[in-house]
Amino acid sequence: MRAIRIHSNGGPEVMRWEDCELPPPRPGEVRIRHIAIAVNFSDINIRRGGFYIARPQQFPLIPGNEGAGVVAGVGAGVTDFRAGDRVAYVGTGGPFYEETGAYAEERNVPASCLVRLPEGISEAVAAAFLLKGLTAAMIITRVYTPKAGDTILIHAAASGVGLLLCQWSKYLGATVIGTVGSAEKAALAKANGCDHTIPYRDTDFVAAVQRIVPEGVSAVFDGVGKDTFIPSFDCVRRFGMLVNYGNASGHVPPVDLLLLAKKGSLSVSRPGFSSYTAGPGMFQKACGELFDLIRRGILRAEASGTYALLDAATAHRDIETRKVAGAVVLLA
Ligand SMILES: NC(=O)c1ccc[n+]([C@@H]2O[C@H](COP(=O)([O-])OP(=O)(O)OC[C@H]3O[C@@H](n4cnc5c(N)ncnc54)[C@H](OP(=O)(O)O)[C@@H]3O)[C@@H](O)[C@H]2O)c1
Repeated sequence: MRAIRIHSNGGPEVMRWEDCELPPPRPGEVRIRHIAIAVNFSDINIRRGGFYIARPQQFPLIPGNEGAGVVAGVGAGVTDFRAGDRVAYVGTGGPFYEETGAYAEERNVPASCLVRLPEGISEAVAAAFLLKGLTAAMIITRVYTPKAGDTILIHAAASGVGLLLCQWSKYLGATVIGTVGSAEKAALAKANGCDHTIPYRDTDFVAAVQRIVPEGVSAVFDGVGKDTFIPSFDCVRRFGMLVNYGNASGHVPPVDLLLLAKKGSLSVSRPGFSSYTAGPGMFQKACGELFDLIRRGILRAEASGTYALLDAATAHRDIETRKVAGAVVLLA
């Protein structure tokens, strides 16, 4: 089979389209023929040699850890799946950024990591939606649930996770303010539930938020990190909540707890989606709830950008230069 592999860390140019061997599935594993593969920001961090790598990377390495496709074969002991089933996965059991291997035509994954795709959910939608949807669900159902009367500030509102947070917060009755990197992204964020957009690359977003909501927002949902998190303390009302779920601009520096008291008795949360789906059957249950939100029209899931798998480097380049909005998917 063919796959995108990296032999060292670096820019998008280290990604090579190569022939490689895939052994037969081991006991308990399923072989998937990918149809659509998600591109997540953590894939870029892996390629760069990113900041959250806990153990040394082994090269050559196939990036990516989220995909959807068709079962091509099963290992001994697998009884829940058979050839031809439509399935998807998000990670393979350990930390999302370890044991990667999704940027490939085929892959073996543990059967316990798979969810069956219902009718009406295409492989491209699943790849565009699952991790981003689980992240939005974790924030909204476990960390801070927006309600009527709330104003929520969502950074990078036109990002993959950001668009879902906008849709869902709006559905729950909140007023939504989104920061965005371009006029096109502002239009997209508005079409997905943003009431106000702020072009934060060339505007002081803190002053802009204070003009819109002088008493401060109820919560901030921040996937940008280094450039936005600490300044956001001045956008939040007393007893408000700041949720940092990502680091597109880099890690958030350490926070002095006393600052939370000084800025109005604020709370801070840094959730990771794998806690949300930890435990047998939790991933499948959480995906079922997401599919239901799509069926009911509360969340709209689609890939904003699609690339051929062999063009994965172009997809990375477009994400890193902040050209694309929404979810990016590779088609195998
Ligand atoms: N906690 C979790 O479990 C979890 C799960 C999934 C994702 N994440 C993290 O959440 C973050 C957002 O994920 P996503 O899928 O929504 O990402 P995405 O679609 O790739 O969007 C990231 C956005 O961040 C903005 N951005 C700001 N500074 C940037 C920079 N220096 N380089 C590139 N982009 C920058 C850009 O929007 P503008 O052009 O509008 O500024 C960009 O479109 C990522 O850090 C990801 O790793 C965390």
